Amino acid sequence: MTVTVTEVAGRVFPLRDRARRPSELAGRDRDLTVIGELIAGLPAQGGALLLSGEAGVGKSALLNAAEERAATAGIRVLRAACAPFECESFSGLNQLLLPLSGELDHLNDLHRSALNAALGLGDGPARDRLVISSAVLALLTGVAAGGPLLLIIDNWQWLDQASALVLGFVARRLSGRPVGLLAARRSGSPVPFELDLPGHEVPPLSDDAATRLVTARFPGLAPSVRRRIVTEARGNTLALLELPVALSDQQGAGLAPLPAVLPLSPRLRALWSPPVAALPAAARYLLLLAVLEGTGSLSVLRAAAAGQYDIDDLACAEHAGLAHVDAATSRVNFAHPLIRSAVMSGSASGDVRRAHRALAARLGDQPGRRAWHLAGAAIEPDEAVAGQLERLARQARDRGDASQAVTALLRAAQLSPGGRAPGRLLAEAAYLSATVTGELPLAARLLADARRAAVGPAGPLEPDGALPAEVANACVLLNGGADIDTVHRLLTAAVGAWSAGPPAGGTAEPHGGETALTALNAALPTLLAVCAAGGRPELWAPFDAALARLDPADRAGLDLLAGTSADPARSAVGVLGRLDAAIAGLPRAADHWRVLILAAAAARTDRLAGCREALRQVTRQAREGGAVLPAISALTLLSQDGFRTGDWDEARRLGEESLRACQSHGQPAHEWLAREQLAMIAAARGEDGLMRELTGPMLRWALPRGAVAARMAVHRVGSLAACGRGDFAEAYREAAAISPPGALASHVPHALETVLDLVEAAVRTGRPREAEAHVAAARAAGIAAISPRLALLVAASAALAAPASQAGPLFERALGIGGADPWAVE
Ligand SMILES: Nc1ncnc2c1ncn2[C@@H]1O[C@H](COP(=O)(O)OP(=O)(O)OP(=O)(O)O)[C@@H](O)[C@H]1O
Ligand SMILES: [Mg+2]
Repeated sequence: MTVTVTEVAGRVFPLRDRARRPSELAGRDRDLTVIGELIAGLPAQGGALLLSGEAGVGKSALLNAAEERAATAGIRVLRAACAPFECESFSGLNQLLLPLSGELDHLNDLHRSALNAALGLGDGPARDRLVISSAVLALLTGVAAGGPLLLIIDNWQWLDQASALVLGFVARRLSGRPVGLLAARRSGSPVPFELDLPGHEVPPLSDDAATRLVTARFPGLAPSVRRRIVTEARGNTLALLELPVALSDQQGAGLAPLPAVLPLSPRLRALWSPPVAALPAAARYLLLLAVLEGTGSLSVLRAAAAGQYDIDDLACAEHAGLAHVDAATSRVNFAHPLIRSAVMSGSASGDVRRAHRALAARLGDQPGRRAWHLAGAAIEPDEAVAGQLERLARQARDRGDASQAVTALLRAAQLSPGGRAPGRLLAEAAYLSATVTGELPLAARLLADARRAAVGPAGPLEPDGALPAEVANACVLLNGGADIDTVHRLLTAAVGAWSAGPPAGGTAEPHGGETALTALNAALPTLLAVCAAGGRPELWAPFDAALARLDPADRAGLDLLAGTSADPARSAVGVLGRLDAAIAGLPRAADHWRVLILAAAAARTDRLAGCREALRQVTRQAREGGAVLPAISALTLLSQDGFRTGDWDEARRLGEESLRACQSHGQPAHEWLAREQLAMIAAARGEDGLMRELTGPMLRWALPRGAVAARMAVHRVGSLAACGRGDFAEAYREAAAISPPGALASHVPHALETVLDLVEAAVRTGRPREAEAHVAAARAAGIAAISPRLALLVAASAALAAPASQAGPLFERALGIGGADPWAVE
């Protein structure tokens, strides 16, 4: 057993499959139960079971497990594993029964000499099959008299015919004898003859089990790589364990993008390539076209192969079970994703380029796809193709397919003839990796590449490359160990430099048109998030200044979010009219930034109901285009919506999904937000232990980084939990840590949320003056105008703080507030 361990980005990445004990099989509970029944029944009742399943699915591993179980149960095991080259008569039986050669003496003469001859153990006349079969049965029965016996035969499809017939005879006569037969065969492979035995199909592993297996064996794989492997392996265990091995260390760790078709390891190639290699050249070329074309469209394939080959040339690939031409959809479908890999690994690079060229020539009406194929056919830099790929990347980005955008940008950078373009393209790819797909290790590497490309004659990154690069850098740092102030300083410096004009040698018009908009829009949401997490008033000034330079039409809702985040008690009311209009006008297919910016503003002002569908759409889209971070934010917002409106089970499910995604993508700067929602639910349900498990890591992240908002969120959770416990002294401490009584802290949205907690805690701990002062502060700030929910909280606070004689009517008034119905929880 060899374990190669490579340190990649601080992680341990074991490259080789490690031999495991059979008892550690992943996802095989059902199969082991079926096998276990045969074994458990053995001492009393013999029987047979034939496992079948695709190559590499895990049949032999199950036989190993069966052997281990039988041995533990004191059952003697005889085992044979057939091989394709061992085809002499009775070679399988020989392997199986050799350990019993000492027992042949107990047989009668006829049986002994028949078996000796058949098994090649001695001279003697060849006997007919019935005699040999009876001899085997007698031998096994005799041995089993001393204790139960299990025969295990692997690779039944390669068993020689003579042995197969004898074992078939035996298998049908096991009932009443303590002898079991357990065999495994590849489904679809021709067998010597069909055994009429009880069968069990070994299915591919479920996605869940596959993910667990890959995570356990290859802990250093980036989450996106793991997902891709699980998808392409389709539950095939060998593929799950071998596809990671075929990747480079950088690819495995997510530091380099994966190719469109995954490469095969030698073990996988040995299994999957021969049937492809056996096809005639015409079929192989057509399959190659189908792999590269991607959708399997027969009309495109026909056109690309015109004059050379005909679609009917695929017939032999169909006969071999590799692909299927579906007349109904006019497409050719591969029987398994790994066949695409086998086709690619068996194709010469010249053929691949030729196929790309042929496809490009047929896709003139689809410029994006044409650009991909031209790029595939290129072997040296080509500025025109690089330009087309860049446009393609923009389109992919705009429709939410960030993964494809990154791939297109990287290929465009490779094909750029030099100058400033590669640095700019790499910087944009780094930006998308850091802010959309959540691939921080890749972002860090691309950032380094972009900086390398921008030294020497290429000169510094252009303004529209420098700003996205700094944003990527900020995300990497924020999710690493850097504190809020450092990241804030870097970002504001970059925004400031950009705003001040082009750096020496930069493009003439850095602030004009679409480029300017894109660069600044790339930076501002991240800067806003940093200001909000920082939770200190002075952080906002550079953001406000940069935002002011954007045309109002280009602010994409950032002004609304800032208005509800920076100092919500004072400025939220002023943006509500525009916020309501923006939410009402949210188009069905809005881009995820716009949805998330508006939804975040909506969350602070109790308007999430109007964003629900758009947020759900973001999570759906994210699954297709790899937009992990937008999905994380959308899930957290939906969780908050669920909590506030009383659907706590759903809120918890959504929050947990968001938290898992944060953890698997290493996004602590997002993680605390998901934890906050889950901790609120735990606090509201009185699950204090769980609440503390959730808030502990929030504090550990927030304190050294100066993330005041995250710290306030923990106090917010704490005050809710303490109120629930009736521990009002503690509730007072927690709520007062957010906002001192009598003054509504600005720059901390949690101050609005805890008005009622603070007032109630003050009243119940004998602090009527503080309670009154806080009600007055809430009234003076006018937060009741933000939403019926906040109006309800303020009115209830007033009722609690009032003298007993006035409380009744005040409570009545609170309950009478219109539009408060959805906030039943409050
Ligand atoms: N459930 C499992 N959990 C962990 N590893 C497994 C599991 N099943 C199989 N493996 C491992 O996957 C690889 C392929 O499994 P196995 O050799 O059992 O496949 P097979 O179905 O017997 O294939 P073939 O048809 O080629 O004989 C082996 O390395 C095996 O150890
Ligand atoms: Mg096997």
